[in-house]
Amino acid sequence: MSGRLWGALSLAVAAIVSAGAAAQDVVKVGMIAEMSGPFAETGRQMVNGAKAYQKVFGETVGGRRVELIVRDSTGPAPEVAKRLAQELLVNDKVDFLAGFGLTPNALAVAPLATETKRPMIVMNAATSVITQKSPYIARVSFTLAQVAAPLGTWAAKNGIAKVYTLVADYGPGIDAEVAFKKTFVAGGGEIVGEVRTPLRNVEFAPYLQRIKDARPQAVFIFLPVGEQPVAFMKGFAERELDKAGIRVIATGDVTEDGQLEAMGETPLGVVTTHHYSAAHDSAQNRTFLKAFADVAGPDFKPNFMAVGAWDGMAAIYEAIRRNGSGPIDGDRVLAALKGLKIDSPRGPIMIDPETRDVVQTVYVRRVQKRGGRIYNVEFEQIPNVKDPGK
Ligand code: PHB
Repeated sequence: MSGRLWGALSLAVAAIVSAGAAAQDVVKVGMIAEMSGPFAETGRQMVNGAKAYQKVFGETVGGRRVELIVRDSTGPAPEVAKRLAQELLVNDKVDFLAGFGLTPNALAVAPLATETKRPMIVMNAATSVITQKSPYIARVSFTLAQVAAPLGTWAAKNGIAKVYTLVADYGPGIDAEVAFKKTFVAGGGEIVGEVRTPLRNVEFAPYLQRIKDARPQAVFIFLPVGEQPVAFMKGFAERELDKAGIRVIATGDVTEDGQLEAMGETPLGVVTTHHYSAAHDSAQNRTFLKAFADVAGPDFKPNFMAVGAWDGMAAIYEAIRRNGSGPIDGDRVLAALKGLKIDSPRGPIMIDPETRDVVQTVYVRRVQKRGGRIYNVEFEQIPNVKDPGK
C-alpha cells in the first residue's frame, strides 16, 4: 500500500472513531412541544425556558454537550405527538424525551418511554394519572389536584359559601373540579352548579349567562393556558358578572404571568392557587427572569411553563452528572431523579421517590398592581403539598 493511500485510510478511520466519540459526548433531548395553533403559547414558553437554563448553566455537563431537538406537536394531537416521539427515538436516537404541554400528548407517548426505557421528563402536562402511565416518567411541573385542593379549603375558610364550577372537559379540568369540590364541600361550602367546556373552540357566552342566573358568590375555573382564559375573562366583564357580585377563583393557569397583562384590569382581585408567580421574591427567580428576557426578549413574559422547562433541564443535567460516562441509562436516570431536590425559581421542590411527581409549596395569590404592572402577588403558602390525586 502506498504511503499516500495508507495516510488517507488512517485519516478516514480516525474520522469514524472521533465521530463515535462525539456521539458519546452529545446527549440528545427530544422536546415535544405545542409550537403552533391555539396552544402555541405553551410550546414557546417551554422552549425558551429550556434555552434560558442553558444560557445560564452552559450547554455542557459532565463533559457532554446537551443538544435540544424541538418538534411541534401542533396542539392537543396525540397521534402527532406519538409519531414525533417515534421519529425522535428511532432516527435521532434521543437520550431523553421532554416537553409535553398538554395531557393528551403526554399520555400518547408514555407507552413509548416504557418500551424503549428512555426517561420522559414532563415539563407541564398536569393530569394526575400521567406519571402512573410509565415508570420512566418524572414530572417537574405540578398537578391540577395539587393546586385546586388547597383553593377549596381557602375558599370555604374565607367566607365563600356558594360556588359554580367551570372547567375544561378533559383530564386536568376534571381533576381540578373533583379536587376543588372535595375540600370545598368538606369545609362547609356548597356547589350550586357545574359545567365542563370543550377543549377546542369554546364560546363562553352561554355558560356565563347560566352562571350569572345561578347567582353564586364565586365561580371556580380551570382553563388551559392560551386563548381560553383571556376569552373567559373578557366575557365575564362584558356580561357584568363582576357587577352582579360574582368573584372568580381559579387555578393559576387562568391568570398566568405571560397573558395576565393582556387581560387588562378585569382580573384585579382574582384569587388563585399555583406553584409559580413571576412576582416570587428570590435570587433564583431573579436569575430565571433575567435569563428568560435574554433569550426571548423583554416583551415575552415567562410563566409557570417556562419554569417547568427550566427545572426539567436542571433535572436532566443532574441525571447526566449522576449517570456518569457511558450511554445514558434509563434506569440509572430514574434512580437519580427519585428524591431529587431542585432550587427552583418557584421555591425548593423535590421529586417524590414514590410517585415521581413534585412535592412543593402551593401559594395563594391575588392579582394586584405593583409599580404600574399587574402580578399574581403571593399572600399565603402551604408547604410540602403532594399530589392528592394519587
Ligand atoms: C394539560 O393539558 O395537562 C394542561 C394544559 C394547560 C394547563 C395545565 C395543564 O394550563
